[in-house]
Amino acid sequence: MMATTIPQTLLQLFREHLGAFPAEPLASFVSEISWDMAARAVEPGTLACLGYLDRVAEIARPEALRLVRFLAEHRQALLWQQTYTAADFGQHFVDSYGWLELFGTRGHFANENVAAGFLILGPEVVYPDHHHVAEEIYVPLTGGAEWRKEASGYLPRGAGEVIHHPSNVNHAMRTRAEPLLALYLWRGGPLAQKPVVSN
Ligand SMILES: [Fe+2]
Repeated sequence: MMATTIPQTLLQLFREHLGAFPAEPLASFVSEISWDMAARAVEPGTLACLGYLDRVAEIARPEALRLVRFLAEHRQALLWQQTYTAADFGQHFVDSYGWLELFGTRGHFANENVAAGFLILGPEVVYPDHHHVAEEIYVPLTGGAEWRKEASGYLPRGAGEVIHHPSNVNHAMRTRAEPLLALYLWRGGPLAQKPVVSN
C-alpha cells in the first residue's frame, strides 16, 4: 500500500472542511469537484509570506484548526506561488502575499473544472480592486480582514463567512493588524487567469 503524501492529506482535510458548508453558493462548487484527481509531480516552492502561518495557526477559527495546523506544519513541502510582481502592487504586497493551488490546472492535483487552494495576506496589506472571468468563493479561515465587492465600501468579514464573487465582478480586500488565511475556489472561466486590475 502506498504511503499517503502531504498533498493527499491536505486534500482530504480540505474536502472535509468544505463539507461544513452545505449551503449555496458553495455547495454547487463542491458538487462539480471530482475528488478522484491525479496528483502532479510539482516541486515545493516557498515564499516570504509563509512566516505568517505561525500567527494564522493561533488565530484561525476552531473549526479550521486541523486544516490550518497541517498547512502550517507542512508549508515547506508545498508549492506556493504568486501572480503579481512588485510592478503591480509594490514590494510590500509581494513580500506579504502568496497562494497555493491545491487543485486546478497547475497545482498539486489536476482539475480542469474547479481550482481551489489557499491565499495568505500578511498584516497591513491592500489587495486592490480586481476582477476575473471565473466565479470565485473565498472562505476566510481567520477574521479581521475587510472585503469589498463592486461599489460597496470595505466590510469586515469574519472567519467562516462565505464570500461570493460572480464572474467579472470587481473585488478587493485589505488586512489590518493580523494576517489573513483564506481558502478559495474558482470555476467557470480560465482557471489560471491573472486577474485584471481595475482602474
Ligand atoms: Fe478574485
